[in-house]
Formats: sequence, C-alpha cells, structure tokens
Amino acid sequence: MNIKKAVLPVAGIGSRFMPATKVVPKELLPIVDKPVIQYLVEEAIMSGIEEVIFVISKDKELIKDHFSENLWLEELLKKRGKKKPLQKIQPIHKMAKFTYVYQNAPLGDGHAILMAEEAVGNEPFLVLFGDDIVKGEIPAAKQLINHFKGESIIAVEKIPKEKTSMYGVIDPVLQSDKFFEVKDMVEKPSPDKAPSDLGVIGKYICPPEIFDAIKEANTGKDGEIRLIDGFIRLKEKQKIWAVEIEGDRFDTGNPEGLIDASHAFLVK
Ligand code: G1P
Repeated sequence: MNIKKAVLPVAGIGSRFMPATKVVPKELLPIVDKPVIQYLVEEAIMSGIEEVIFVISKDKELIKDHFSENLWLEELLKKRGKKKPLQKIQPIHKMAKFTYVYQNAPLGDGHAILMAEEAVGNEPFLVLFGDDIVKGEIPAAKQLINHFKGESIIAVEKIPKEKTSMYGVIDPVLQSDKFFEVKDMVEKPSPDKAPSDLGVIGKYICPPEIFDAIKEANTGKDGEIRLIDGFIRLKEKQKIWAVEIEGDRFDTGNPEGLIDASHAFLVK
C-alpha cells in the first residue's frame, strides 16, 4: 500500500521564538538558508509523498506564499543574472501538490489532524510535526514507510531519562532491529513513570481509522485534542508499531535546537 499524502500541522504560534515569530511563522525560520518547513516537505517528497496538506491558521498565510510561484521575483533574478538563487526558488511550487486547510482555534494536534480529514479521504497518510528535523542517510519518513503494512507506525528515538516529561514514551516489544510493537504509550511521563527510554518524535503513519479514534478519544488535561490519545484509542482495535529512527534529530521548536540544526546543515 502506497502512502501518497502527508499532513503537516503548522497552526501553532511559536511562542518560544517571540518576537521573531510575531509576524513570521516559526516554520519559516531558516536552517542555514532554507525554512524549516521546506526540509519537512523535502523529507516527505523523498519518501514518495505526492500531496502535502498543510493545516494552517489565518496568521500563517506566509507559508502558502513560500510554496507558491513568485513570477515577479523570478523575472527580477533572471534580469539580474542571479542564476543560483533562481535555481533555488524556481522548483519550490512544483515540488508536490500543496493543499491548505485551516485550524481556526488552537485545540491541539489531534484537532489539527481532524481538519485534514476531508482532504486525506479514506487512505493511510503520513503526519510530520513542524519541529522534528532529522539529518541522516535515509529520510526519516521513508524509514517509517519502509515498515508500513496497513497499521499505524510511530517514530521514536532514545531519549535521556531526565527528559521523558517532554515526550510521549512508548512501552515497546522488540520485533526486529529498531522495530517494535507498541504495547502502551504515556504522554510526557515523569522519569519514574516512563515505560522505556524510547520517546516519540513528531513523525507518524496513520491509517484512516485514526480520524474516528481521535474523535472518540479523551481530551487531554488541558482541553486539547491530541493525536497520541487517538493512537491510544486506536490500539484497542489495531496494532501500533514504532521505528527507532536513524539519523541526528534536531528539535527546531526551540532556539538551541534550531542553532544546532544550522551548524549541522551548514555546508562548509
Ligand atoms: C507532541 C506529542 C509527543 C511527542 C512530541 C514530539 O508533543 O504529543 O508525544 O513526543 O510531539 O515532538 P508536543 O511537543 O507538541 O507538546
């Protein structure tokens, strides 16, 4: 079964980067010379995705601009003989089919996924959260897709014990090298309650049944509707799998992570 669509929820406000993100969406902040979100779109495309569905808010229209053609700028660069910058911007709008849906209230990542239900339809799809960038030989999404047989797959990585309260943590049963069945999941547990050292990173394959599971799931303590609660609900009906991702992961949702990513991607 092929996975052709990716959902990228990008409606969050980016409070850790204020004031830079007062106007500019945090997903457009650069790693070297390319916006964070373009790395994710490229990861999706290199993994076989043909349509990228962005879940944006009305304050994130600049993301749409980034993935649209800008003839005025192309003409100007041509006239001035600026070949390299031209080559960098020309292909962007043709990289995939881009679709935009809106999340008009910050009700959680599960709620964002529900906004994409109609655009996704009745097929499995990839979800990439905006903050997790992996530098490695095989695109992280492809590592998930390589294991796909119809049921959910979650990307995980080893995390330090003192950081469990920043991640979803899985209770794994090893199947083969870096491939696990997920027996249980706990969202942001304290170190003594964490079932393992495998933390969820924001990359998932979802079957279409996830939509009903999210709708049936309990809302979080903060009133948010979370994707992980959808998986916990779905696990009552289907198996959930996890892949330990190979590569260096950067959490570009905080300034240190974004700077580390820039150092790693800078071609010297
Ligand atoms: C979300 C998920 C969490 C996961 C994390 C990875 O949390 O709920 O399970 O570990 O993304 O980035 P957030 O960081 O959005 O609070």
